[in-house]
Amino acid sequence: MHRQSLQKFYGWFTALGLLVGVLVGVGYYRDEYRPWKDYQRRFIREEIRRAATPEQRLLAQSTALQVRQILLPELNRVDRCTTCHLAVEDPSYGGYPQPLAYHPLHDEHPFDKFGCTICHRGQGRATTVEDAHGKVPHWDDPMLPLKFIQASCGQCHEASDNPAAPQLARGEQLFETVGCRGCHKLGGVGGIVGPELDKVGARRSPDWLKQHFLEPAAVTPGSGMPPQKFSETDADAIVLFMLSQTGAELPVFYASMKVIPSAAQGRRLFQQKGCIGCHSLGGQGGKVGPALDDVASRRKPEWIVQHFRDPQTVSPGTVMPRFGFTEAEARALTDFLLHQRDQKVALDLPSLMTPIDRGRDVFRKYGCAGCHGPEGKGGVPNPNAKTAQQVPALTYVADGYTKAELRKLVTNGQREIAALDPQRPVPPLYMPPWGSTIKDAEMDDLVAYLFSLKPKGEDLGF
Ligand code: HEC
Ligand code: HEC
Ligand code: HEC
Ligand code: HEC
Ligand code: HEC
Ligand code: HEC
Repeated sequence: MHRQSLQKFYGWFTALGLLVGVLVGVGYYRDEYRPWKDYQRRFIREEIRRAATPEQRLLAQSTALQVRQILLPELNRVDRCTTCHLAVEDPSYGGYPQPLAYHPLHDEHPFDKFGCTICHRGQGRATTVEDAHGKVPHWDDPMLPLKFIQASCGQCHEASDNPAAPQLARGEQLFETVGCRGCHKLGGVGGIVGPELDKVGARRSPDWLKQHFLEPAAVTPGSGMPPQKFSETDADAIVLFMLSQTGAELPVFYASMKVIPSAAQGRRLFQQKGCIGCHSLGGQGGKVGPALDDVASRRKPEWIVQHFRDPQTVSPGTVMPRFGFTEAEARALTDFLLHQRDQKVALDLPSLMTPIDRGRDVFRKYGCAGCHGPEGKGGVPNPNAKTAQQVPALTYVADGYTKAELRKLVTNGQREIAALDPQRPVPPLYMPPWGSTIKDAEMDDLVAYLFSLKPKGEDLGF
């Protein structure tokens, strides 16, 4: 009886035993054949094949299969990408199929200090392709498509200063000239009609951004943002610039490039320090010192740097002041002078600009073009606005307003926009008040510029 009741369970014991066995087997199999182990075996086979001496062969054969990782406490990351991307530092693997290829651009960014995800995003700790590359649901930081990789450079480099990231520079340039700031704040400067963009790169995907630029209202119903008429490459560049705005704060070492010598920084210094008072460039400026257009053909870079450190040491008796530049500043200025020719750097020298020129800059800086079109020529849709369902052009404001009235209007804005059809939703775009943003002197220049928009000669004949 007793025995019989036990016998009743034998079948179950057997089944359970088998199940455990299978599970252990599957576990072992899954562990042994994890995809990353496959890649490591492939790598080891390749190393063995390449071994030139018995020692090298032995070394390759004894390579352990193991998860590899780069610890980056300062960046609060652990990157295991090199578990599969095993040869990133070995140039002889150039052109190998992934994940075994050599990586370009790492001399400047040693992997032991930078890891991988700081540039590529993705999930650093993961050891499967899908997880690491971040294509899993609920992972909100997927790997950047390679096409947009330059977005990452902006975290540590000034967007406009990095010749290795031309798309990023283009994106920033578009942002500053097309008029995005008319409606958006970035870094605290800009309008209030659209959301702040400081962290937009952390909350929006490349696809979303691109769709939204081409047709905002299709992505955000009722959006007041005008569709942007970008070429394909420019659309990608502005998407990339948006992706670069993550709001991440990096430790000083990593972000140090933002202040590292560069032609653009040199140019800023050139403008700030008043070099133009004594030197000319492109025919503009003073005559106390030599014109600097061709200085690169006259002087060696070392001479120029030394001259900035202390002019007297290379030009005894010179009247050129010793500015007390830091080493980085001296190099940046030299860089600027040596490259200003091929870079065709536009020098906006405030002292030589007319109020109208400066006003054009104010118009650009605050993004008025975002609503009023380039040079205030209009054309930006404002559904249901009485003004032809567009934001009005500014070409003829000189006829409708005195300077004082114009100033007042730009200062106070205009919230209520007359609707064409009172039954339909109110026009989404209104004239924001700029009084608290635009400084007094800027406002004078802006008004001068607005007055200058009227085509010349149109008053004649009446
Ligand atoms: C489990 C192995 C594995 C891990 C871990 C892994 N990768 Fe990969 N990676 C691959 C393989 C395989 C490919 C090539 C096939 C593909 O694109 O999926 C690849 C391709 C890539 C590419 C090229 C994609 C393209 O569009 O051409 C990039 C960039 C990349 N990996 C970055 C990373 C980064 C960054 C990490 C760490 C967060 C990482 N990988 C972790 C296996 C891995
Ligand atoms: C400083 C930024 C930066 C870091 C750090 C970085 N990458 Fe890259 N990676 C790039 C850029 C830029 C490219 C595109 C290069 C090109 O245009 O060919 C790239 C390309 C790649 C590719 C594709 C190469 C190809 O041509 O198919 C892989 C794979 C990759 N990186 C993996 C890694 C891994 C793994 C790490 C960490 C060990 C890493 N990257 C670290 C910037 C970076
Ligand atoms: C996490 C911060 C960080 C990111 C992201 C980053 N860089 Fe850098 N980069 C640096 C630092 C720091 C240096 C200087 C390294 C040093 O001097 O040791 C540097 C150096 C360079 C240099 C050499 C500049 C010189 O004057 O010596 C180039 C070129 C460069 N980076 C291009 C890029 C590109 C292109 C990208 C994007 C794909 C990128 N960097 C992304 C931090 C970064
Ligand atoms: C006429 C005003 C206007 C102009 C000009 C404008 N936007 Fe917008 N933008 C908006 C409004 C309103 C929204 C919010 C509704 C929506 O998502 O479309 C918005 C949304 C966005 C978003 C989504 C932000 C988020 O977090 O959801 C991005 C990104 C953006 N704009 C970027 C730009 C860029 C870049 C430019 C310049 C090329 C630009 N905008 C020009 C009004 C404008
Ligand atoms: C968010 C969109 C938007 C931005 C940005 C914007 N405006 Fe306007 N602006 C408007 C709208 C809409 C009107 C029409 C108001 C009305 O119909 O009463 C207007 C009207 C004007 C007018 C009066 C035009 C007329 O014909 O009566 C002037 C002048 C003007 N804006 C100047 C500017 C300047 C200068 C800037 C930049 C500092 C600027 N605007 C930025 C939307 C904008
Ligand atoms: C007070 C007038 C004065 C100012 C301000 C001044 N310089 Fe000079 N600079 C001179 C004179 C005079 C010389 C010629 C004598 C010499 O070599 O020092 C000169 C020489 C130079 C040279 C060498 C040109 C050559 O062909 O030999 C360079 C480069 C230069 N200056 C750059 C600058 C820069 C950049 C600034 C601003 C940071 C600046 N200077 C500010 C007066 C000035």
